[in-house]
Amino acid sequence: MTLPRSVDAAEVDGKVVLVRSDLNVPLEDGRIADDTRIRASLPTLRLLLERGAAEVRVCSHLGRPKGRDERYAIAPVAAALQDLLGDDRVHVLENTRFDPRETANDESYARELAEGCDLYVNDAFGSAHRAHASTEGVAHLLPAYAGLLLLDELQHLGRLLGDVARPFVIISGGAKVEDKIGVLENLGSRADAVLIGGKMAEDVRSENPFSFEAVLPSDVVAADSFDADAATELVPFDALPEGRLGLDIGPRTREDFAARLAGAQTVFWNGPMGVFEWPRFAEGTFAVARALADSDGYTVVGGGDSVRAVHDAGVADRISWISTGGGASLELLEGRELPGVAAIPALQ
Ligand code: 3PG
Ligand code: MG
Repeated sequence: MTLPRSVDAAEVDGKVVLVRSDLNVPLEDGRIADDTRIRASLPTLRLLLERGAAEVRVCSHLGRPKGRDERYAIAPVAAALQDLLGDDRVHVLENTRFDPRETANDESYARELAEGCDLYVNDAFGSAHRAHASTEGVAHLLPAYAGLLLLDELQHLGRLLGDVARPFVIISGGAKVEDKIGVLENLGSRADAVLIGGKMAEDVRSENPFSFEAVLPSDVVAADSFDADAATELVPFDALPEGRLGLDIGPRTREDFAARLAGAQTVFWNGPMGVFEWPRFAEGTFAVARALADSDGYTVVGGGDSVRAVHDAGVADRISWISTGGGASLELLEGRELPGVAAIPALQ
């Protein structure tokens, strides 16, 4: 993979720098529910400040507002960032998606963002699959560089696209198979095994959409309703009674998946094994998280839900790389070019 040129090579002393970060964090009642992305944006911002930038203008989208909508005001995110940085050279611009020209990649909006800035640093890996004014358009108007997080993500995820240490095992789950067909087809055909759990496994059971055989669960926790306290019984995967919902993989499957993961040298995980937000259906997902943590191999986790699961399971510090990108990591691993990356001149 060709890497974009790094902010590390930019001359920033005395300059006004526009930085696109991905500060699109989950909000609950107007509060930041998880500040991982804010913290992940710090190394690039600190580098710019240490190297003497006169001003650092940080911009990001937050949520999916349709025009100006105070529920998605950037203020709480800006305050959290300032608490962590404590530098008055940093200014956070309002949510880029308050302006409809952002998602239209309208050049007039890109010009407004670039106004008064000397260079542009894109560190928003999580948004690099979007060709928007702040992620793509503006890169053509200012000397553009990749931030440290963006580069780290490309290097770590990029490893999975190259010559991986084997066995290479992919484990996937979550609700919808459609979202993941591209990435599973691209990576899965090169993997030694693809394990599938969660709701997705049921789609694959009735009709395999892949050009390879996937490893499916052998048992599931069947619930009589979609409820945290639902009555449950353990049933074979291929004998889920009519009207019952498989809300977690069963203990035999957990053991089987964990054993296959234990022998792997490279693992990519995306998507939970069940409704892990509810403790009674979290065991399968947590068993996978622990298996990755215990592995000596190179382990990569991508996508919001599985990232949250490794944190909830308390094993995040024992995973080789946890991506800050959901859609962006999937598109990269599908082998697609990310517009936010393509717009930055390549490393010479
Ligand atoms: C994400 O959370 O996946 C990124 O911030 C991109 O957000 P989007 O899907 O609303 O473009
Ligand atoms: Mg998304």
